[in-house]
Amino acid sequence: MLRLALRVFVTCLATATNALYIWPSPPLDALEAMRFDQDRNGITDLIQPCSLFIFAAPGAGRSNAADWIRTAYHDMATHNITDGTGGMDASIRFAEEQARAENVGDGFQNTLAALLGLSTRYISIADVLAAGTIIAFENCGGPEIAFRGGRVDASEPNAPGVPEPQQDLESHTAAFARQGFTQTEMIGLVACGHTFGGVQQALFPQIVPVLNDTNNAQSVSHFDSTFVTFDNNVATEYISGTTQNPLVVGLNDTTNSDKRIFASDGNATMASFASSASLFASTCADLITRMVDTVPAGVQLTDVITPLPVKPDLIDLTLSVDQKTMQFTGMLRVWNLPQTTTHDVRLLWDDRAGGTNNVSLVQSRVATSSGGRATATWFSFPTLTLDVTAGITNMLFAIDNAIEDQGGVGFAIQDDLIWSNTSCITEGATVTGKLAIAVRNDLAPTRVYAESLGRDAVDRPVVVETDFTLQPGAANALYAVWSGAIANGQQDFTIGAEIGGVKVTRNDIRSVFDFSPCAT
Ligand code: HEM
Ligand SMILES: *[C@@H]1O[C@H](CO)[C@@H](O)[C@H](O)[C@H]1NC(C)=O
Ligand SMILES: *[C@@H]1O[C@H](CO)[C@@H](O)[C@H](O)[C@H]1NC(C)=O
Ligand SMILES: *[C@@H]1O[C@H](CO)[C@@H](O)[C@H](O)[C@H]1NC(C)=O
Ligand SMILES: *[C@@H]1O[C@H](CO)[C@@H](O)[C@H](O)[C@H]1NC(C)=O
Ligand SMILES: *[C@@H]1O[C@H](CO)[C@@H](O)[C@H](O)[C@H]1NC(C)=O
Ligand SMILES: *[C@@H]1O[C@H](CO)[C@@H](O)[C@H](O)[C@H]1NC(C)=O
Repeated sequence: MLRLALRVFVTCLATATNALYIWPSPPLDALEAMRFDQDRNGITDLIQPCSLFIFAAPGAGRSNAADWIRTAYHDMATHNITDGTGGMDASIRFAEEQARAENVGDGFQNTLAALLGLSTRYISIADVLAAGTIIAFENCGGPEIAFRGGRVDASEPNAPGVPEPQQDLESHTAAFARQGFTQTEMIGLVACGHTFGGVQQALFPQIVPVLNDTNNAQSVSHFDSTFVTFDNNVATEYISGTTQNPLVVGLNDTTNSDKRIFASDGNATMASFASSASLFASTCADLITRMVDTVPAGVQLTDVITPLPVKPDLIDLTLSVDQKTMQFTGMLRVWNLPQTTTHDVRLLWDDRAGGTNNVSLVQSRVATSSGGRATATWFSFPTLTLDVTAGITNMLFAIDNAIEDQGGVGFAIQDDLIWSNTSCITEGATVTGKLAIAVRNDLAPTRVYAESLGRDAVDRPVVVETDFTLQPGAANALYAVWSGAIANGQQDFTIGAEIGGVKVTRNDIRSVFDFSPCAT
């Protein structure tokens, strides 16, 4: 009864936010995983601990988190709300932008070296930068921040437009207005950013002296006393007159831009942040979302991505060499499953023969997310051998006997375009071998190919297609096999096919290392 009440409550919450999508959706599945699978998204490890700085020995006075937040602001700051140009589009990756005085320092190239490689066909470089920024706030003491995907990476640099400390208040107010922020929002956004990091001596020798501090080897004069975490000390120290912020108490008043900005409304906004940590946190949650959602005109962002309560992952079907069975593997992630008791978690599935089947799943690991606010409990499917004529069409899950079926539609699986176990690899300096894809005969594709990740001339992710050829096979076999060589030293593939002029993709990335060695 209690469980039922809880389920009704959870369902209502989900309906109210109206942001759940139906699995599978490869683009949304990928964005959701980057945002919430924080033990394997490649982002969180780089800001754990929040003082981590991977480009110098410990004690440099810098952090990856601060670099990412500054990079996101400088990428957005080119936006012109009147004509819709500029914004979060990863144009900061172009050398031409990084060479501008407004973008001094190596923080931008560091950020891209850490994050660009995490972009995929479904996740733009700008989306990774936005997610990295949000997770940096969220995991380093800040509030949870809404994340949307769908940013589009620029093909060329944007016009200049990042504020610099020697400019006057009027220019700064005008620059933020051009970016889409009011004067009060300017005060907030600068305070939200400047709770992290500081000013480097090497870049701003007129502002920061050599500090002679072995714990701050790059002589970074920090904006507040807690420079690797989010808190309202940037405001409390400013209001109490104890701040060491080099853009407030710098000896040369020309470059005291934070001092001019913070005092521009008679200190009202900063005083409100100083007296309420929670007001500061909620204001920053709003402003940082708006910052990373400031995109060039015409770019359509997704709804806010929220974690799916029950999410299958790493689903793989492989046809046996004799074509009599297919091997079915996968994982299930359950969000915020109470850890106080053990749970009965089952996979139920339907097949083409009208059968229903169920097996229990084994818990494999528990990960935390959202700065420890949430948990992801992972379960492994047992390796299942399915009869090839029955195949599989749909999955449901039973968690402590409560059915999870996405409001009745279930979790659709397609068994018509799958890997063939005649694939094999030979490991050497590069991996070579043969990849083979099994295609159900009723599908009748005009092309079958392997898809892998490539980059265009300006580093944007693109899909590289490697065409396969149809292999002669038994006349009555259910599946035909298409095969081709492993190309370009690639190691991770999805399956693609063209059916009636329409391209389809199967969403599971398969590593070639999961295939057997080729017979020699
Ligand atoms: C008038 C507006 C602004 C001016 C003049 C300004 C100026 C500066 C300067 C001179 C630095 C030192 C850079 C270095 O030495 O590496 C800095 C660092 C930083 N800024 Fe700003 N800033 C402004 C607004 C913002 C905003 C809106 C954000 C983010 C929301 C932000 C986030 C940061 C961060 C995180 C750092 C530290 C970087 C690090 O330690 O690696 N800034 N800012
Ligand atoms: C913003 O765009 C408008 C319209 O193209 C233009 O008139 C204005 O000068 C631009 N603002 C800046 C600061 O470049
Ligand atoms: C650091 O050392 C140099 C050389 O001894 C000195 O000129 C400078 O004033 C010192 N800086 C600080 C902040 O004490
Ligand atoms: C103060 O900073 C401005 C801007 O960087 C510079 O032009 C000026 O010479 C500096 N003044 C002094 C006294 O150092
Ligand atoms: C704002 O606060 C600062 C720091 O306490 C103080 O020096 C300044 O006089 C205040 N400005 C106004 C206009 O109240
Ligand atoms: C594929 O081949 C490997 C090695 O021979 C074997 O362990 C595995 O069970 C096979 N999988 C299927 C689906 O036949
Ligand atoms: C799973 O199968 C068992 C029999 O193997 C059956 O007793 C049980 O009711 C099934 N569970 C569900 C949720 O369908």
